[in-house]
Amino acid sequence: MSHQLEKVKELIELREKARLGGGQKAIDAQHAKGKYTARERITMLLDEGSFEEFDMFMTHRCTNFGMEKKTFLGDGVVTGYGTIEGRLVYVFAQDFTVIGGSLSETLALRICKVMDQAMKVGAPIIGLNDSGGARIQEGVNALAGYAEIFQRNILASGVVPQISAILGPCAGGAVYSPALTDFNLMVEGTSYMFLTGPAVVKSVTGEVVTQEELGGASVHASKSGVAHFALPTEEEAISTIRELIGYIPQNNMEEPPYVHTEDPIHRLEDSLNDIIPDSPNAPYDMYNVIGAIVDDHKFLEIHKNFARNIIVGFARFGGTSVGIVANQPKNLAGVLDINASKKAARFVRFCDAFNIPIITLVDVPGFLPGTQQEYGGIILNGAKLLYAYGEATVPKVTITLRKSYGGAHIVMSCKQLRGDINYAWPTASIAVMGADGAVEVLYSREIRAEEDPEKRAAFIEEKKKEYEDLFSNPYNAARYGYIDDIIEPRNTRFRIIRALEQLSTKKLLNPAKKHDNLPL
Ligand code: HXC
Repeated sequence: MSHQLEKVKELIELREKARLGGGQKAIDAQHAKGKYTARERITMLLDEGSFEEFDMFMTHRCTNFGMEKKTFLGDGVVTGYGTIEGRLVYVFAQDFTVIGGSLSETLALRICKVMDQAMKVGAPIIGLNDSGGARIQEGVNALAGYAEIFQRNILASGVVPQISAILGPCAGGAVYSPALTDFNLMVEGTSYMFLTGPAVVKSVTGEVVTQEELGGASVHASKSGVAHFALPTEEEAISTIRELIGYIPQNNMEEPPYVHTEDPIHRLEDSLNDIIPDSPNAPYDMYNVIGAIVDDHKFLEIHKNFARNIIVGFARFGGTSVGIVANQPKNLAGVLDINASKKAARFVRFCDAFNIPIITLVDVPGFLPGTQQEYGGIILNGAKLLYAYGEATVPKVTITLRKSYGGAHIVMSCKQLRGDINYAWPTASIAVMGADGAVEVLYSREIRAEEDPEKRAAFIEEKKKEYEDLFSNPYNAARYGYIDDIIEPRNTRFRIIRALEQLSTKKLLNPAKKHDNLPL
């Protein structure tokens, strides 16, 4: 064999070795836990044959605790770039088979390299996380490595989309980096996020808790809101990333991809003319409205199980990507509370950062009152949504279906928060509050003075009717130009598409500033 052939053979063998990560035994253990390896995940994520790997021969440099005898080619992460539906993305996948995917100085350098590259060329960064956090043996070097990653997460925020999948037990820095990114996906039963695992929790606080209770997918998708998706399998988590990428642009200077649709622009949806119940307090399902109007009835919901009184997610109208924010009358009557405000505010800011128009579907009775909300800071949290809508400069189209009361009316993309097109259905009711509350406030003295219960009830009914005639309609707001038009519900899809076409060249800039001071 020639010298050169020998060298090529050596290269191929080293590559094979690197591809085994922590070795076959560790790979088998990973599979036994129902998890894929870092490389298998990348293969699932990217278009076939598109992956180009960096730094496969890097190893750690730690000599503490006999670590010099524990080196692996690539040192616990697989990094590089490839394509999703032909569009460039950068990816890193932590390899749990190598020292639990824990983050060494070297591992951080590798992750930072792809992040820097993604920023240079303007392409999304996808992190597949499966890591026990900072590698304890490396001490401050591991902490420094995380700090380098966090700094890049922060600078990349709003410049290129950042998506994190949590595909194993992730602790410490391995959860703070995802927290700084735009979307977190978890897998039920195999992925966890916590600052530190149950063993350390027990030693520090004495609390005995399982991984699932502490930071399982359902906990973070429904209680804490840290996870935007909880999927049953890794396959579904990874295909959701591919779907998500399809709605968003490569970076903040580009438009989201246009996706051709056979769904007619003029499609009328007769069911919408008869979807609002007769009683203003009866619920209906906002998902039926969304499904009826978007292209091909396709809607990718974000944060599905968190604050279900508001719905957010991506869809398309006539091929154009949009973010939808909609109150859900079926859940807590669609009221705005702390979690709903935070959820929607974060989504609105993502859309605005990445040039995605926002469609707002309004049916909101107001903000949720009471001590629980006040002590939790509803004022500050509600202000986040107000702020997010008010600062957004992307096209904003608002449709008021039914109730739009008080502060919640203002917050939900009203005209004065630079709503571009504000339409209402004829069933809309736009006022400071509903008729019951208004009569209670305006006529409390008369109501209390009337001793005959029948007369009192008749008086209340009469005043409610008077109030409803004046305010329980969209015409009063339309009279002042706060509503641009009152539309037939079945035309909603067509009217939104026309509005988006009209707004496609919209230019609006906020005043120059170092950065804003959003009420955190
Ligand atoms: C070094 C680690 C490690 C770590 C895991 N391993 N985490 N090695 N540093 N941080 C090693 C284990 O020793 C083990 O090695 C292998 O990875 C697999 O781990 P297991 O514990 O066997 O797996 P499992 O039972 O699935 O438990 C996974 C785990 C647990 C829940 C992640 O390992 C754990 O609690 N690790 C520590 C988590 C933690 O507190 N990290 C915080 C670090 S602080 P062998 O050789 O036996 O296979 C941090 C600072 C940044 O990240 C903070 C920024 C704000």
